[in-house]
Amino acid sequence: MKGVILAGGLGTRLRPLTNITNKHLLPLYDKPMIFYPINTLVGAGITEVMIVTGGSSAGDFLRLLGDGSQFGLRILNYAYQVREGGIAEAIGLTSAFVGGDRFVVILGDNILEGSIRPYVEAFERQAGGARILLKEVPNPRDYGVAELDGSRVVSIQEKPAEPRSSHAVIGVYMYDGFAFDFISRLQPSARGELEVTDLNNAYLERGLLQADVLEGWWSDAGSSIDGYLEANVRVAELSRRSACGGTAG
Ligand code: G1P
Repeated sequence: MKGVILAGGLGTRLRPLTNITNKHLLPLYDKPMIFYPINTLVGAGITEVMIVTGGSSAGDFLRLLGDGSQFGLRILNYAYQVREGGIAEAIGLTSAFVGGDRFVVILGDNILEGSIRPYVEAFERQAGGARILLKEVPNPRDYGVAELDGSRVVSIQEKPAEPRSSHAVIGVYMYDGFAFDFISRLQPSARGELEVTDLNNAYLERGLLQADVLEGWWSDAGSSIDGYLEANVRVAELSRRSACGGTAG
């Protein structure tokens, strides 16, 4: 299983913090934000990772992370996304790295309380296809939203004005090698990007998409300045709890 971390984008929702740097390099409590998704993948047993980034701070990722051995990574590769082409386009850049393997994608600003290992193991037991993670949120309009029939996902809408449920699709996605075929056939959305929601719907339409509801909290640290603050507070609490010997994911 390979891992992909998406750490590009302009970070417009966190301006002016992101005027001269990439949002994934901003501090989250006592570490740069990008450390958390790396640790999430390593905690799931994934040691071969590619980071996709872009913009003028791209070189700072190399300076900060080097070869990734400080995290226990066996391989850390980098890809450069030239323009704001969307999440699915960024995933497409990892095709040579992924080879035909299965892989887990995490958005670099998605911070999780617990381990994703149980979901990755469930994906490994799956015959093929894709697996996504859902979380109930008070503001589903800000996310991809899964319409559910019992525990089955029947559709996904990207940031719908009238959400059909309160289940957000969080930024952790698991795919088999067919993802790259699907991406090559996607059309840009109204905002000119290849949308991850369209990729997930390509699997869904073929009956190849499974979903789990995530245990523990999830923060989208790049969604807004309040989301960034919330993630900082949650990470600080988690860090203090584990320092006191409590359970931390
Ligand atoms: C992206 C996806 C959205 C998903 C969200 C999770 O949105 O497009 O479907 O729910 O990440 O963080 P963004 O936050 O990049 O606007």
